[in-house]
Amino acid sequence: MSSPATLPPALLDSLRRAGRVVVLTGAGISAESGVPTFRQAQTGLWAQYDPQELATPAAFRRQPQLVWDWYAWRRELVAGVAPNPGHFALASMEAYVPTFTLITQNVDSLHQRAGSRHVIELHGNIARVKCSREERVVETWPATEERPPRCPDCGAFLRPDVVWFGEALPAAVLHAASEAARLADIFLTIGTSGLVQPAASLPRLAAGNGAVTVEINIEDTPLSPRMDYTLRGPSGVILPMLVERAWPD
Ligand code: APR
Repeated sequence: MSSPATLPPALLDSLRRAGRVVVLTGAGISAESGVPTFRQAQTGLWAQYDPQELATPAAFRRQPQLVWDWYAWRRELVAGVAPNPGHFALASMEAYVPTFTLITQNVDSLHQRAGSRHVIELHGNIARVKCSREERVVETWPATEERPPRCPDCGAFLRPDVVWFGEALPAAVLHAASEAARLADIFLTIGTSGLVQPAASLPRLAAGNGAVTVEINIEDTPLSPRMDYTLRGPSGVILPMLVERAWPD
């Protein structure tokens, strides 16, 4: 295990030489921006609800208004925060690496807002809305008091365009992420608990195909024992240091 002060020279060297760097991020990278992770207790109005119970198709069927309102609250929360130094460091890493792929489980657009250009969003984006029946993204709908509003084409409820627990990831998105992992020279896993599949299998896929694996997290995860390097600490501190030391000019 390494602390930020002792970033392994061999890792810095591997980063500098890598043709293909792939990064998988989770809620931990946005925590320092003030976006609560899914597995953190919620505060205020929503404290009594478990996010893992709200983010499911069954919850939406049972209590569509509650789920819609929770996402409206999260959307507002995300719109009111800013990318942190971890997001910015990844955006600058993209400029140094010949082929750089950023795969995120986050739905908050903070990578894009920090300047990352090639982002694979595994779990969708909270800013988008889709029809719950036809799955098509819907941009506008007539003003209504009804929550959730309804699809202007078919009348089904609208829902956030995110992947809920128990739902499959869009096939093309998962394929792109898996291909990137397979071809990676270095695979960095940042701020994810490694509990949710299929995202959690990507580091292993990369390792199985010869990638050097790195984890950045404030604590151990089920993925930690398999990593070549584990860097313990906040991603907002470690990532800027990593980029600065790997590419000093
Ligand atoms: N820096 C680095 N890691 C951090 C930081 C930080 N500042 N703060 C928290 N972490 C780590 C935690 O230790 C934990 O391992 O981030 C991880 C967050 O874990 P989760 O809340 O489980 O988030 P994530 O892994 O992204 O969850 C995966 O499951 O909740 C669903 O669909 C949702 O995309 C999400 C998916």
